[in-house]
Formats: sequence, structure tokens, C-alpha cells
Amino acid sequence: MKITGRQFDRFSKLIYHSCGISLHDGKLSLLQARLAKRLRSTGIDSVDEYLKLLESDEQELINFLDVISTNHTYFFRENHHFECLCGDHLNIWCAASSSGEEPYSVAIHCLEKGFRPSILATDISTKVLQIGERGIYPIEKAKSLPTHILKRYFQKGHGQWEGHVSVKDDIKRMVTFKRFNLLGDMPHDKTFDVIFCRNVLIYFDRTTREQVINKLYNVLRCNGFLIIGGAESLTNIKHRYKYIRPSIYQKGSQP
Ligand SMILES: C[S@@+](CC[C@H](N)C(=O)[O-])C[C@H]1O[C@@H](n2cnc3c(N)ncnc32)[C@H](O)[C@@H]1O
Repeated sequence: MKITGRQFDRFSKLIYHSCGISLHDGKLSLLQARLAKRLRSTGIDSVDEYLKLLESDEQELINFLDVISTNHTYFFRENHHFECLCGDHLNIWCAASSSGEEPYSVAIHCLEKGFRPSILATDISTKVLQIGERGIYPIEKAKSLPTHILKRYFQKGHGQWEGHVSVKDDIKRMVTFKRFNLLGDMPHDKTFDVIFCRNVLIYFDRTTREQVINKLYNVLRCNGFLIIGGAESLTNIKHRYKYIRPSIYQKGSQP
């Protein structure tokens, strides 16, 4: 199965409009490999026919975004960012949480510091949200965690879960997983003390980054923090946040 230049353009436009991810030409082989998976699952063997399905079937679009999204994450990734968290931060949003390692790491960090926030974990991919909700990970994913953290917050899997660890229920109760597309309308009924939006802006172009960053501003409480990934920046973006230090921005005391 080969994708023509015209088909690649149709996929790129569809992906860009549905989730903001910009596919450049270098991503052709990646798209090809991931598309092959969906063609196998749907039993469709023509790329044009699959494109038609994608444009008309919302569930297939969700399935497609599941295979297209890059979900790489790990426990305590860039955990120096967590140092700005304090007991005032009881409502935290991980806005591209992937499979849960980020929100669970935040939860564990806060418990170790002596407070217990409630954490909303959202992502566009339903596949990773299910993993997060289940809270079970291959043991290698937890290898680098200090023994006392492993003992306190995880339990060893048995039977079919041999070789895995499970996040303890008490931690799971702190985190709510929901599907949310950062391109969509923000939930207006809630504001957050801290928003993590890490390692996702990198997939967006400048216009989309600017839109997302400014929408997050509206649901951040005054003096709240926005935390982005270490490889990301708000340079060349119009925004109202105060720069605190690399990756960390704050909303002023008045909106
Ligand atoms: C590389 S992971 C980053 C995970 C985590 N924040 C971290 O730093 O380890 C990027 C995540 O962004 C999600 N994503 C991509 N586009 C999105 C969108 N439009 N809305 C919400 N999530 C999106 C992907 O599904 C993926 O799980």
C-alpha cells in the first residue's frame, strides 16, 4: 500500500483540522505504517475508500487519531517542574496526559509533599486514556522509581499481570481521565490552579499553539501556573502569561 502525494495532503489536512497536529513531508513513511494498521482492522484495502470513511465516520476518526498520535511519556518526566507545586494547588489539569504516567507522577509528588489535589487527565487518544484509567504498566516503566515510592504507591501484578505494576487505588482515585481535544471549547465551569500542557505543543504550528495557550489562560485561576515541556516555548506567540522560568508561566493576579 502506497500513499500518493495527493492522498498525503488529504490526510495532512484532516489531521490538522481535527487535532492540530502538523504532518510535514518527512512523516510519509510514519503515516504509511500507522495507516496500514487501520486498513487491516477495517478490512479496507483502498486508501481513497479509507479516506472517504474517515471523512464521514466520527468513530473511525477517533480510531485513526489513536494510531497517529505520538504518546511517548514516562514516570516523573521533567520532574523539576513539580517543584512549583504547593498545597494551594488542589485542582490540577494534565491537558495531554497520554497513558497516565504524568498525572500519577504529579499525584505521588503532591502526596509526598503532604497535600492531595484532584487531577483531571485529558488526551485526544482514547487508547492511552484506557491505559491511564487501568493504571497498570510493564514493570520496566517503573524501574527508575525509588524503591520507597514503588512500595508506597504501586503493587506488583500477579497472574495475567505478572511483570507489571499497578498504581494503588488510593492514587487512582485522585485522577479522572476524560477525552478532550485541545482544539475544542474549554470547559467553562471550572478553573485550574495549575495546567500541565507538556510535550504536545511541539506537534502544533504557531497559530494552533497560540490558540491553545490562550484558551488555557481562560481556565487558569489568577496566579495559577501553566507548565509546558522543556523542548517547547511560547516565543513568537502573543499571550498574557508572566514568564517565571524555563517551561513555567504564571497568570497575573488580575485576569
Ligand atoms: C508526547 S505525549 C506527552 C505526554 C505527557 N504530557 C508528557 O509530557 O509526557 C503527547 C500527547 O498529546 C496528545 N495530543 C495530541 N494532539 C492532541 C489534541 N489536539 N488534544 C489533546 N491531546 C492531544 C497525544 O495523544 C499524546 O498522548
